[in-house]
Amino acid sequence: MHDAFETTARIAGIGTYLPERVLENADLERMVETSDEWIRTRTGIRERHVVAEGEALVDLVERAGKAAMADAGVAPGEIDLFLLATATLEQPIPASSAIAQPRLGVVNAACLDVSAACSGFVFALNVARQFIATGEAKNVLVIGAECLTRFTDWTDRTTCVLFGDGAGAVVLQPAPAGDGILRCAWKTDGTYADLISMPGGGCRIPPWDREAIEQRLPFIKMRGNEVFKVAVRALTEISAQVMDEAGITVDDLALFVPHQANLRIITAVGSRLKIPEDKVFTNVQWVGNTSAASIPLALGQAVEQGRIRRGDLVLSSAFGGGFTWASVLFRY
Ligand code: ACO
Repeated sequence: MHDAFETTARIAGIGTYLPERVLENADLERMVETSDEWIRTRTGIRERHVVAEGEALVDLVERAGKAAMADAGVAPGEIDLFLLATATLEQPIPASSAIAQPRLGVVNAACLDVSAACSGFVFALNVARQFIATGEAKNVLVIGAECLTRFTDWTDRTTCVLFGDGAGAVVLQPAPAGDGILRCAWKTDGTYADLISMPGGGCRIPPWDREAIEQRLPFIKMRGNEVFKVAVRALTEISAQVMDEAGITVDDLALFVPHQANLRIITAVGSRLKIPEDKVFTNVQWVGNTSAASIPLALGQAVEQGRIRRGDLVLSSAFGGGFTWASVLFRY
């Protein structure tokens, strides 16, 4: 029921943070041509949290990270590796994980940003697991955090209703195979790079290019309908693959905690995998799509609500820009 490693990584602590400000569908009705009814029926989303003026990525990272270290009973100085999954950098240079390091107090950690859009947190877990398995790291802090609303085009109704801000963090520690992470799979298909993208703001179209700003290129673009179909298929396949490889069935699962992009995607994947509705966790209604923060936020809330207990088998699967997709099966 486990993979080739003798040692794996287990979640020793978990923490989350959501900015205080809440944006309801009714607020969006006043900003673009949309309706609460359209947003709820097409996405399931009712509200999302938005950073306040002056608040940014590292503020969210600090709150979630400190909560996870406290939950694990690990002092910041004991963290030897810190991975930050995000698509919404604090600034292009230096790495956001480096900027966050002194705020978190993880002074002995090597710091690395992981860029895989909505799959970023699961990608980072998979990286962290390797370092723990080889004995290179003993206490790894993995955080998924996003300030998507800073790169949201508030004039584009096809995307601005979807995104929210937040952060979730875990501390990983070594565990014997059979406990902690049992299987992990990850995939990328860059032929779909244009379907979810922010075309401006990098070196091809620099952030100071006025024409690009007028064309609204430094904002998140998504061809939602085309993404939807691939997302359902990819999430179903990779989730089934990980369960097969681990030799388990949905009956063994305590909870399925998928990426929270759209309630319809989650329902479609859940029913294709034949996972009973009460074993599928959703919070997209209250937080929207928070990209790399989505899964750790959902896991943290599921633990808080008593839906995941120590010893439970949990499956988490993500899909996002790249395209990237990934799945992790673990015993909590
Ligand atoms: N309010 C009202 N009408 C709208 C809105 C809105 N906010 N947005 C779009 N519409 C209209 C469209 O213009 C279209 O009108 P038309 O038929 O007259 O052309 C109609 O609604 C239907 O639009 P679709 O795009 O076909 O709507 P769909 O049912 O596909 O829902 C959505 C759109 C919610 C974006 C969905 O496609 C989706 O969730 N896609 C997947 C998103 C995803 O999983 N992304 C991956 C992670 S994201 C990341 O990595 C950052």
